[in-house]
Amino acid sequence: MELIDGKATAAAIKQEIAAEVAQILANGGKQPHLAAILVGHDGGSETYVANKVKACAECNFKSTLIRFESDVTEEELLAKIEELNNDPDVDGFIVQLPLPKHISEQKVTEAIDYRKDVDGFHPINVGRMNIGLPCYISATPNGILDLLARYNIETRGKKCVVLGRSNIVGKPMANLMMQKAYPGDCTVTVCHSHTANIKEECRQADIIIAALGQPNFVTADMVKPGAVIIDVGTTRVPDATKKSGFRLNGDVKFDEVAPLCSYITPVPGGVGPMTICSLMKNTLLAGKKAIYK
Ligand code: GUN
Repeated sequence: MELIDGKATAAAIKQEIAAEVAQILANGGKQPHLAAILVGHDGGSETYVANKVKACAECNFKSTLIRFESDVTEEELLAKIEELNNDPDVDGFIVQLPLPKHISEQKVTEAIDYRKDVDGFHPINVGRMNIGLPCYISATPNGILDLLARYNIETRGKKCVVLGRSNIVGKPMANLMMQKAYPGDCTVTVCHSHTANIKEECRQADIIIAALGQPNFVTADMVKPGAVIIDVGTTRVPDATKKSGFRLNGDVKFDEVAPLCSYITPVPGGVGPMTICSLMKNTLLAGKKAIYK
């Protein structure tokens, strides 16, 4: 069994990005600039956004954090989005989700200019990804593709089971794994809460990508010996031994599954660090106007 080290892979990619930005700046080019909008004070969102700002510094990017209190109106938020859409210095921006109930996430997502949508959530980017056109690919699926590629994991002709059908992980992941490309060229099955025989589906899989958000869902009896296991789960569970008071728990029962696999991602330190790294890759593409002019 080989452990897939997302932390080390993300660090290496961020260094590569920083080197490329140094080169761009040495040639008189523009410093890539990512802006992030954070609404309210949700603990998870605060941590994610702080990590995104930190990653920007590591990549030699300029970053701007824009904060609103949770009583901000949808109108005020949309006005800020319009301002960022029209700001030539901002190459890409994100609105951290979830948003308070009185604001439509769909409206917000569609208000972002798709050419600056480095999250890859806008329907134009989602649609372009689905038909294999250049676009911003959402961060978690893109990070998983990078891990598979950097570890030279064979995907062609393999049976891949994706657990979960969310718009930001399960659906794009399934789509990417079936595309005519490497990583890809898999036969993909998507399982969800209404799947009839999920254990049997998993037992057939050469690659399992678990993104259900159910701690310890994947157990040893669901895993074919030699399978590749990618764990996207990051459920916070209370843990008095941690300074923060919680720990992150994956969707895979790691201790019993790991000995069976060829490769497995740990939680934390697997998929998580790659997610922010993918956002940095999209920001570099945006800064270079590599996808959209
Ligand atoms: N909330 C959880 N994941 C994400 C993400 O990738 N982007 C944004 N904007 N919000 C999130």
